[in-house]
Amino acid sequence: MQQQRDYDVLIIGSGAAGLSCALRLPGELRVAVLSKGPLREGSTFYAQGGVSAVLDQDDSVDAHIADTMAAGAGLCDPAAVRYTVEHGAAAIGWLIDLGVPFTREEKADGRQDYHLTREGGHRHRRVIHAADATGKAIENSLEAETRRRENIDLYERHIAVDLITSAKLGLQDPRCLGAYVLDRESGHVEVFRARSLVLASGGASKVYLYTSNPDTASGDGIAMAWRAGCRVANLEFNQFHPTCLYHPLAKSFLITEAVRGEGGRLLLPDGTRFMPRFHPQGELAPRDIVARAIDHEMKRLGIDHVLLDISHKPAAFITEHFPTVYGRCLELGMDMTKEPIPVVPAAHYTCGGIRTDLHGRTDVPGLYAIGECAHTGLHGANRMASNSLLECLVFAQAASEDIHARLAGIPLPPDLPSWDESRVTDSDEEVVVSHNWDELRRFMWDYVGIVRTDKRLQRARRRVELLQQEILEYYSNFRVSNDLLELRNLVQVAELIIRSAQSRKESRGLHYTLDYPEADTRHPPRDTVLVPDAPALETAPEVVQGHL
Ligand code: FAD
Ligand code: SIN
Repeated sequence: MQQQRDYDVLIIGSGAAGLSCALRLPGELRVAVLSKGPLREGSTFYAQGGVSAVLDQDDSVDAHIADTMAAGAGLCDPAAVRYTVEHGAAAIGWLIDLGVPFTREEKADGRQDYHLTREGGHRHRRVIHAADATGKAIENSLEAETRRRENIDLYERHIAVDLITSAKLGLQDPRCLGAYVLDRESGHVEVFRARSLVLASGGASKVYLYTSNPDTASGDGIAMAWRAGCRVANLEFNQFHPTCLYHPLAKSFLITEAVRGEGGRLLLPDGTRFMPRFHPQGELAPRDIVARAIDHEMKRLGIDHVLLDISHKPAAFITEHFPTVYGRCLELGMDMTKEPIPVVPAAHYTCGGIRTDLHGRTDVPGLYAIGECAHTGLHGANRMASNSLLECLVFAQAASEDIHARLAGIPLPPDLPSWDESRVTDSDEEVVVSHNWDELRRFMWDYVGIVRTDKRLQRARRRVELLQQEILEYYSNFRVSNDLLELRNLVQVAELIIRSAQSRKESRGLHYTLDYPEADTRHPPRDTVLVPDAPALETAPEVVQGHL
């Protein structure tokens, strides 16, 4: 009999969403937090620009709401936007109390106050930041505080394989009961039993060949929730950040939008600006527009990258505000205080995800989703810059309050079955995993990227279905590994992205297709909601895997 670990709350993910949720829960609850690698390895740690919130007296909640809704191109849920924005300033106050060292400056009247920067879509300065390494500052503070709490157990290098639900076990009373978790050190799959579970597992941008995201962003939570019977929404809206550094050695390195917020200009190789041709807000247009404009110019001129230039600003200003970006560029032989730097768009953020309400509840009772893996309705068809960390913080609190309020009425689940490895062996061909991984990410980039067509999506659909079969077969026969689990999840999310994109017969926000280049104005804007085929779901995957 394998060991079963019992908790009040199991949180899958240790980024801004997961750690905030753990810290917001009352100290008398036993809480476990899982992370696939070291605690800090996730998108949060790499966030640069900052967190948006209404902190300036000339700004207003209504203005932040209006900008968010404009970026979201008709698909933001007004209630989710208002809820998030109204809780923004308090969430920042909580971080300040935790000791996050946000950048300060001397104001015109001699007062010291927080510096607020600007990013695309924001008509006001409202992005609080810690120079250009905001995520690192936040994650460090959250991690330090979490490690101090005695009620929180941290499981690093533990990857959740799948959720255990009463439906999967043939029990009455639909509910999430726990999760199977692979300990990457021992290679064993353990059972975690919990009264409430929270998915805080981040996004899925790793599904694309070029991305700003760390390797953790493989959509695990979205795929697990789907297999557990949750609806997912708006997965066609994958955000491409306009400016990642173009250099063979600069894998995934982002150039923060705040560089444009502080006056950086996008240039063609001949030194001319092109963004004013595409949008009145120029370089600070919403991200979908800037990324598409760059893609358009690169294809039109047959160039590998465009240029981002902030060298007209004083060198001291640049090194003070962008020390991380400046330092990385310098390591690669580029001095951004003196010359423009080469940039390209890359997959950056998963706007869709697991459908939740304003408490972070999913369709499966006892299961919550928060942060980038969730679809709360905040982002609509295009997330506005720096609204993501805000959403992590606000919904972590909402979910923790809801969990606490309901937990007394929820008994510990019954004993859960152990993971069955009797029918699997060690893999004899690891190359299948690495090959399929490369193939998937390449065709997603080529066929389901910034500009789509029906034909490209059909091609991608055929390929993804083939890969799904191969990976399922592999998963059924061989012992699980981190890479295999991530690939299994990525291919599932890829299929959901393609299906969602195929069902949207218009261009809107981040979804742009040459076959329907305009927004559909004849019908009200609608979310793309995919519903799992519940009966098949409750039998098929487990029977094939033989794991339950
Ligand atoms: P993450 O921080 O990605 O954490 C995910 C966690 O889940 C990790 O701990 C991971 O190990 C764990 N996990 C995943 N799957 C499993 C599994 N199966 N089992 C166990 N654990 C699992 N947003 C902003 O608002 N402002 C910014 O300035 C900003 N800059 C960004 C810069 C970069 C380079 C990137 C990549 C993103 C940026 N974003 C920014 C977006 C933002 O950082 C993310 O959306 C946000 O940090 C997501 O937080 P999260 O807690 O949901 O997930
Ligand atoms: C950036 O700093 O440009 C990223 C901001 C974001 O993704 O919100």
